[in-house]
Amino acid sequence: MKVVVIQGPNLNMLGVREQNIYGPMKLEDIHAQMEGYAKQSNIEVEFFQSNLEGEIVDKIQECLGDANGIIINPAAYSHTSIAIRDAIKAVQIPTIEVHISNIHAREEFRQTSMVAPVCAGQISGFGPFSYHLAMVAMGQIMSEIKAMQDAQAKQQAVPQE
Ligand code: DQA
Repeated sequence: MKVVVIQGPNLNMLGVREQNIYGPMKLEDIHAQMEGYAKQSNIEVEFFQSNLEGEIVDKIQECLGDANGIIINPAAYSHTSIAIRDAIKAVQIPTIEVHISNIHAREEFRQTSMVAPVCAGQISGFGPFSYHLAMVAMGQIMSEIKAMQDAQAKQQAVPQE
């Protein structure tokens, strides 16, 4: 199973930007933690960060036929990007939206997410631990999908009378 982690604009500045909100951890450190958990759980993981909306759309499209799940923090684009929302909807890959801060407890313009309705769920407000929770949730989604596929295969294998 492969999960692609997509990080939006300014997340490459973690550890430097607004530490009172986002904490001192750097993006590389968050990714190293995720990688550790992924290895234990037999999940292949790829990381991608871009400050450009179109590059994020391209990356989501590239996941088609390549990834089983997407974990995405679209950062500021969460609140504005119909293009990212449409890309997630188009690929039909289980996607989890992540935020470090609790967007619902912040300025009004951050309280709306354009992508939330096309995601399996949203994890927001647990600091860098939000990403870990997203990996755990993705593992759960994957095992539910596998259990469903196994049940379907078993049903099809039953000889018809
Ligand atoms: C963020 C929240 C967004 O509102 C903000 O623009 C970010 C980070 C978060 O992870 O808390 O860049 O997505």
